[in-house]
Amino acid sequence: MIVTTKQLFELAYGKYAIGAYNINNVEQCKGLFEGCLALGADGKVNWDLAAPFIIQISKGARSYTNKVFLEGLIRAADEIYPDAVFAVHLDHGDEKTCYDCIESGFYSSVMIDASHEDFDGNVATTKRVVDAAHAKGLVVEAELGQLGGVEEHVQVSEADAKLTDPEQAKEFVKRTGVDSLACAIGTSHGAFKFSGTQGLHFDVLAEIQKRLPGFPLVMHGSSSVPQDEVERINAAGGKLAGAKGVNADEFAQAAKLGVTKINIDTDGRLVWTRVHREYFKNHPENFDLRPPGKIFIDEYAKFITAKNLKLGSSGQLKAVRKALGL
Ligand code: G3H
Ligand code: 13P
Ligand code: ZN
Repeated sequence: MIVTTKQLFELAYGKYAIGAYNINNVEQCKGLFEGCLALGADGKVNWDLAAPFIIQISKGARSYTNKVFLEGLIRAADEIYPDAVFAVHLDHGDEKTCYDCIESGFYSSVMIDASHEDFDGNVATTKRVVDAAHAKGLVVEAELGQLGGVEEHVQVSEADAKLTDPEQAKEFVKRTGVDSLACAIGTSHGAFKFSGTQGLHFDVLAEIQKRLPGFPLVMHGSSSVPQDEVERINAAGGKLAGAKGVNADEFAQAAKLGVTKINIDTDGRLVWTRVHREYFKNHPENFDLRPPGKIFIDEYAKFITAKNLKLGSSGQLKAVRKALGL
């Protein structure tokens, strides 16, 4: 069942965060649904672990898979897994793509990322998208401050990354009417987040929450880049020396400070890379895509179930369904 992120945030605020996972293909889609429902070998939902979630679709995914394919995949998954409750969200949209998603009638939420514009420009662009989205019943996430790393249409060096200014955050929300805000609190996209002992700026997050009590905040760039995963990838021929991510044990603290959505994409790519590198290293004679594909779906589902435990969304699906009258 597709719902808005706003409906999920109202139930989660201050208690847990919802995992927002990017998908590009059927294997990720299947693994995501099965992981969020914590499906057992018997195909039954494990309600003690089942979680609500957010499917994220980037502009890159829309062109790689084709937006119509992606929509078809998600509609099929909705039918195959009727217990699932999730939002369909455009990740890092530009203005044009936001309008395309708003018009499609399929998405329940869009992100307008005008964080590369100056403050007034970001406000103006975000406000236009908010007005268009709200008129059609969709909700909007925007970004203020700049994360390091590479995003779809912006590349930000570590030196240029700017943490979100709490006073500006308050003014931004007031002027735009946006429904949630992605804040830069020290993370960056990709597998190389920290070069030393840097970490999350909970002080900045606390200041933002003080000025925007009850308002849903979003944390991008939240992959953990597990070191055992990196080691296995490198042992099977990869070259990811020095990759480092966010400590997933810190998600709970972030959730208490108003973070309701935590974005994770890179970690899923690492699962994919490990499974396929190991499979073909161990089976050099094979060329069937399905055996590693099947291993990936199962491994990805396990990874998602484990991540939801860290987010605190694990085991919340039953209560969410009840609260939404499902
Ligand atoms: O923040 C970006 C997400 O990881 C999506 O990546 O634009 O390569 O699909 P992508
Ligand atoms: P990661 O690169 O840390 O997975 O972040 C994903 C993200 O923020 C998607 O918007
Ligand atoms: Zn992001």
